[in-house]
Amino acid sequence: MSLDKNLNKILIIDFGSQFTQLIARRIRELGVFSEIISHKKIKNTDISHSIKGIILSGGPLNVYEINKYSFDKKIIENGIPILGICFGHQILSKLNGGKVKQSKHREFGLANIDKKKDSLITKNFFNKKRINKVWMSHADQVSKLPKNFNVVASSRNSKYAIIENKKKRFYGVQFHPEVTHTENGKKIISNFIFLICGIKRNWSSKDQKIQLIKDVRNQVGTNKVICALSGGVDSSVVAQLLNKAIGKKLYCVFVNTGLLRKDEEKQVVETFKKKLKMNLIYVNAEKEFLKKLANISDPEKKRKIIGNLFIKIFERYAKKIKDVKFLAQGTLYPDLIESKSVTGSQTSKIKSHHNVGGLPKKMKLKLVEPLKFLFKDEVRKLGLELNLSRDIISRHPFPGPGLAIRMPGVITQKKINILKEADYYFIQALKDHGLYNKIWQAYAALLPVKTVGVMGDNRTYEYLCLLRAITSEDGMTADFYEFKKPFIQMISNKIVNSIRGINRVVYDITSKPPSTIELE
Ligand code: XMP
Repeated sequence: MSLDKNLNKILIIDFGSQFTQLIARRIRELGVFSEIISHKKIKNTDISHSIKGIILSGGPLNVYEINKYSFDKKIIENGIPILGICFGHQILSKLNGGKVKQSKHREFGLANIDKKKDSLITKNFFNKKRINKVWMSHADQVSKLPKNFNVVASSRNSKYAIIENKKKRFYGVQFHPEVTHTENGKKIISNFIFLICGIKRNWSSKDQKIQLIKDVRNQVGTNKVICALSGGVDSSVVAQLLNKAIGKKLYCVFVNTGLLRKDEEKQVVETFKKKLKMNLIYVNAEKEFLKKLANISDPEKKRKIIGNLFIKIFERYAKKIKDVKFLAQGTLYPDLIESKSVTGSQTSKIKSHHNVGGLPKKMKLKLVEPLKFLFKDEVRKLGLELNLSRDIISRHPFPGPGLAIRMPGVITQKKINILKEADYYFIQALKDHGLYNKIWQAYAALLPVKTVGVMGDNRTYEYLCLLRAITSEDGMTADFYEFKKPFIQMISNKIVNSIRGINRVVYDITSKPPSTIELE
């Protein structure tokens, strides 16, 4: 990897912390360009005038296990300001004559730090009580203050929680200012980059778009790339980014499983093929999916059948394109953190998620994952920058297995048709009443239960429709959305009166946990 020599930047040297990308994100949010490079790859000869500050990240290492990490010591002798975070703080201390030892009290979680002296790094950081809550995650700690350093703040267990060598512009913090649990943590980062490094704002979502397009071109050259387009936010943004980067070398495959939301396939073809002029291969596999799912009611079986068939169909069409070298995927940063399994502990499997992650191994394709360092909100901003419509960008998440997992019991075409209508009415009403964007995800489900009703003078015996609407940060936990009575009453009437096959509507008031967002 070579560093961009033209743009002024903050260089983040990564020692393997799970939070390194968060540091980069915070710097991006402050409107400044930053680059991450592994401690194994950076040499002093890479340090150029464009580097206005260096951040040494945290990491799982011990400063005395020098065989496990490499760091060119000359890097700290260039007169560039340095901020060491956690492990970075320890290595900066050691290199300046301080000592690090294993702490008697491992500190994980929140701790209070106390202000000891004024410093540029903590300008407007401390609250009125001069005690801030910070997020600690370390076993080792600095035990002897390095030469010519002063203590800026201490915690009960970390005497040297913030230290500085003002003349050299070296700063060390034992805690993680980049995580949101640290009260006012972003101030530490902004003080470092603006007040100490003196860098000017030079980064926007437009710059990010240009950089990502450049990166994709560098990675794939003139090779063909294939992408499974679902019409969801992530795959739409990836497809449009690649479309801008490599145009007709990108082939998008859109599989209509028959389990999509009403008219979704029409919208995808309209947007991506007609409007954005992409190479879009539209595969109508409705019948194939329905056939394979006939008489299946077990949720996990449904998921497996859909996932496997999807891959089979995708492979079938990929082969037709010939000489494809890359597969583009909308992996986001949170997916990356989760898959790294930081603690190494095995979490129990709740549901088999359907995605195209199983593809490259079999198809021997290299992955293109241009969004892998972005968070969802950043992806949405990027999508707008790429001229995707707000409709696409603000869509609620939709699971790969689609309506199949919103229809407990066996799947039939009749049930699919009923469900598509109910879901359409619900989502449309949310949009019409300005509620859609207040809700993280909403949908209608069809329960395999028939109940008695009365319409006019007639007895009815029809299905039960369940509505779910939740608020959430990231889908890991969720709470149900509290509708006002007139809205929920109106939508219930509308569904029952307009759709043949439903005569009762219920609203799901469970949170996650103990429930999950989807029914299956
Ligand atoms: P659960 O039901 O696990 O859902 O609480 C959490 C979030 O994940 C979505 N979901 C999926 N997304 N493939 C996906 O791409 C899947 O197989 C899948 N299953 C659930 C769900 O819609 C919610 O946003």
